[in-house]
Amino acid sequence: MIQLKNINVTFKQKNKKFHAVSDVSLNIKDGEIFGIMGASGAGKSTLIRTINLLQKPTSGEIIINDKNITIYRGESLRRLRHNIGMIFQNFNLAESKTVFDNIAFPLKIAGKSKVEINKRVRELLDLVGLASKSKEYPSKLSGGQKQRVGIARALGNNAKMLLCDEPTSALDIETTASILNILREINEKFKITIIIITHQLEVVKAICNRVAVMNQGRIVEEGLVYNVFTNPKNEYTKKLLKHSSKFELPELLLKSIKGPIIKIKYMGETATEPILSNLSIKFNVTFNILHGKIEYIGDLPFGILYLNIKADKDIFTKVIQYLKDNTYSVEVINHATT
Ligand SMILES: Nc1ncnc2c1ncn2[C@@H]1O[C@H](COP(=O)(O)OP(=O)(O)OP(=O)(O)O)[C@@H](O)[C@H]1O
Ligand SMILES: [Mg+2]
Repeated sequence: MIQLKNINVTFKQKNKKFHAVSDVSLNIKDGEIFGIMGASGAGKSTLIRTINLLQKPTSGEIIINDKNITIYRGESLRRLRHNIGMIFQNFNLAESKTVFDNIAFPLKIAGKSKVEINKRVRELLDLVGLASKSKEYPSKLSGGQKQRVGIARALGNNAKMLLCDEPTSALDIETTASILNILREINEKFKITIIIITHQLEVVKAICNRVAVMNQGRIVEEGLVYNVFTNPKNEYTKKLLKHSSKFELPELLLKSIKGPIIKIKYMGETATEPILSNLSIKFNVTFNILHGKIEYIGDLPFGILYLNIKADKDIFTKVIQYLKDNTYSVEVINHATT
């Protein structure tokens, strides 16, 4: 378990103190994939860098497996860093070294023998699917391949933890998916705890178990990814997620519709039940589907549907009640009558 306790990081900027990270406390469990999202400048990179003490916190403690690592220096810090791999948006590979030598580098630093290094680098190359590229230089690799090298290098000394700072932000959608698959695989296979900073909400939805939202140095919201995405509590989170799914009814359409518009949220199991066909059979009403979408967050469905129902007042009230009983939430948006 990684515990961050009241972490503060301040920088001096033009003789003024700047709080990059303010009083952040977080518990990250062994074996989970934990996401951190937030706007540029929120302090995400600064925060993640405190976990391996690349950035020393101004105050606060980092406890890993009940050991206060904040006080580590020299040899103990070096050993700690073997257990914590890190990958970056721009891969940070040594351009003058081959793929093999890039991956071998931290193993050499750790004092492994040539035989051990050879064996381990081969294993790692297989793991990330780059066995055929071992003699290439980074300039000959695609972005996705470079990140695979980055992952292999980070895991070399059997890291228990992988810190990822925007690992897929420089990659296209398909390559992103393949890197996420590798991350998921190493998480499942080797039980490696993964902390991933990203501004790509899709990445959080695809692989994270829990997520924290950062704004201006502070964690403003934290929880299971499904809960945070379907039911954000904090205003900043709501703003951040507004653009994540095309769940809003287009403004033009909203204006042109006469009569009430019903907005239904489906969650979990209710997202896959035949509520609409039941509705028309039970109440004998007709409706237009104006807009709708179901998406999956992790393995769980979440959906929104906008309906325009023509019915007299009595039936309409019953319909709303039925929907309220059978979906997560119901909202009547435009309450003018036809
Ligand atoms: N070494 C430093 N010295 C002074 N200020 C710094 C230093 N490192 C970061 N900062 C400032 O701290 C703030 C947070 O930076 P940080 O890189 O952690 O943000 P971020 O959330 O990772 O942003 P991005 O999404 O753009 O990577 C920024 O305003 C940045 O200018
Ligand atoms: Mg950053």
